[in-house]
Amino acid sequence: MPFHPSSLNYARHVTMTPQTKRPLGLLAATVAFTAFAASGAFADSAGATFSEGNKFTEETGEALYANVCQACHMDQGQGAVGAGHYPALAKNENLESSGYPVYIVLHGQKGMPAVGQMMSDEQVAAVVNYVRTHFGNNYTDKVTAEEVAETR
Ligand code: HEC
Repeated sequence: MPFHPSSLNYARHVTMTPQTKRPLGLLAATVAFTAFAASGAFADSAGATFSEGNKFTEETGEALYANVCQACHMDQGQGAVGAGHYPALAKNENLESSGYPVYIVLHGQKGMPAVGQMMSDEQVAAVVNYVRTHFGNNYTDKVTAEEVAETR
């Protein structure tokens, strides 16, 4: 909203009235507290998943899955249909060819962001190996960090 001079007059008027001093002080305290709380919340949520360079900090496939993939693909890899369509990773034959999930994690596809851009090659390999051997998938040929590097 653009600044309107009449609000200044109003503010001047109320600050000069003794009875209204306290509410104004309270308001200032509330604003300060809200700013503090907001920055605290931000630090918390950022600390949970990102290190300073906007990289995920989890190292195991399990932890990466829980923090990065689960929000969309759900805790059992069952996927979800609602506001969007999140395909199931459980019992998913598209995971048989390891290059496919590596590519999707690195580059994203339609509704899926390129979350692998915020991971090291080792992390991408770990989370891909995790989904390929969990949720009813049993593709035991492991993806290596070198393969991930070649797909970037
Ligand atoms: C913001 C939500 C979101 C996150 C986070 C996410 N995905 Fe996805 N993922 C999707 C959507 C949506 C699709 C379907 C894309 C399309 O329509 O082609 C998808 C597709 C996939 C596919 C292809 C499935 C198929 O059958 O073709 C794989 C594999 C996959 N995701 C793995 C992962 C992994 C592993 C992670 C975590 C590292 C992850 N996703 C994180 C939303 C997400």
